[in-house]
Amino acid sequence: MRVLVTGGAGFIGTHTVKSLINAGHSPIVLDNLLGIKQEVISDNLEIPLIKSNVGNKKNLLETISGTHKDLKNTVHENRFIQAVIHFAALTNVRDSFKNPINYFRNNVQESLNLLEILCDKELNFKRKTSIPIPIVFSSSCSTYGIPKKLPIDENSPQNPINPYGKTKLIVEMLLKDFAKAYNLKSVIFRYFNAAGASEDGFFGENRKIETHLIPLAINSALGINKNFKIFGLDHPTFDGSCIRDYVHVEDIAEAHLLALAKLKNEIMCNNNPNKQSSSLEENCFEYNIGLGKGFSVLEIIKKVEDITGHNCPYEIIEKKEGDPAILIASSNKITAEIGWKPKYKKIDEMILHSYNWIKKINNF
Ligand SMILES: NC(=O)c1ccc[n+]([C@@H]2O[C@H](COP(=O)([O-])OP(=O)(O)OC[C@H]3O[C@@H](n4cnc5c(N)ncnc54)[C@H](O)[C@@H]3O)[C@@H](O)[C@H]2O)c1
Repeated sequence: MRVLVTGGAGFIGTHTVKSLINAGHSPIVLDNLLGIKQEVISDNLEIPLIKSNVGNKKNLLETISGTHKDLKNTVHENRFIQAVIHFAALTNVRDSFKNPINYFRNNVQESLNLLEILCDKELNFKRKTSIPIPIVFSSSCSTYGIPKKLPIDENSPQNPINPYGKTKLIVEMLLKDFAKAYNLKSVIFRYFNAAGASEDGFFGENRKIETHLIPLAINSALGINKNFKIFGLDHPTFDGSCIRDYVHVEDIAEAHLLALAKLKNEIMCNNNPNKQSSSLEENCFEYNIGLGKGFSVLEIIKKVEDITGHNCPYEIIEKKEGDPAILIASSNKITAEIGWKPKYKKIDEMILHSYNWIKKINNF
């Protein structure tokens, strides 16, 4: 399929683009490159990269219809894309408390622009179908807030406790309303904690401002980050630190291939105009992605020390607002419905791959 990948230059995006290419798809990356330290995707993969905000409707329309100047002489020239994977977002929970306007504008308003284009009647008239281009949306376990029971399944109440999680929940709501009103088909993925890096060493975490535990701890162990802080040892957990469910980024990338297959299949079943469905159940599919096992912050730090062979100095500071004590996924639904089977089940592999990547980009 010809797939538009927004935020495709970021962590999960780069791995997904690589998996798409390996599976024979033709991706286009659209990314404003503002969230990443270094653009590595075009060094490693031959793909069109359109530098733009996802909410820029002119660029979006041109990209979707293959008329953007950067698509000249590619397989996308003058051809409509067939699916969207929407990763582009601001993702820093703490920053979202300080700058909620940025988060609602970037994550909600720009997503709304994208969905509006996908459901645009004129565009779909040109595509000769009334069914909009389907979309896979990157949501988050943050939409659940403080869970009432563990593991968290897709029926758990969604009560986000930080602005970032709220932006994700609003886009989920848009997708559900658009499913009913415009027949927009979507897969919503609620990732728990993406971790690791590609085993071949081409991609890994590369954010301008890193906030994720594993790269922060590795950077501390390597002496790159002398300012590693952990947020509170007074959480209601066995060792007082937060517990999270880590899932390898390459397994997350694979889930997107399964989502595309599901959406393609749904569209084929729905192509008969007499059978077109606008029911939510038949248009919007929601799945958690995690391994169902949690590790505390202190456990991760200990593992980083063991794997790197270095001490990992840290300072304990106050708890973060909007930080649930424990988040562990039930991923039974994605396995049962679309056959997702994670390849990497061990946290040590995720830390090792991340360590290899960090050493590589820092010339260790
Ligand atoms: N990494 C995780 O553990 C995790 C967990 C849950 C959900 N998610 C979601 O998955 C998605 C990808 O996360 P990631 O870890 O790869 O993040 P990332 O920060 O590495 O990548 C995000 C990419 O989006 C781009 N971007 C941001 N806003 C944009 C805009 N308005 N227009 C165009 N490009 C824009 C950035 O430049 C960056 O390349 C995000 O939507 C995030 O909320 C991630």
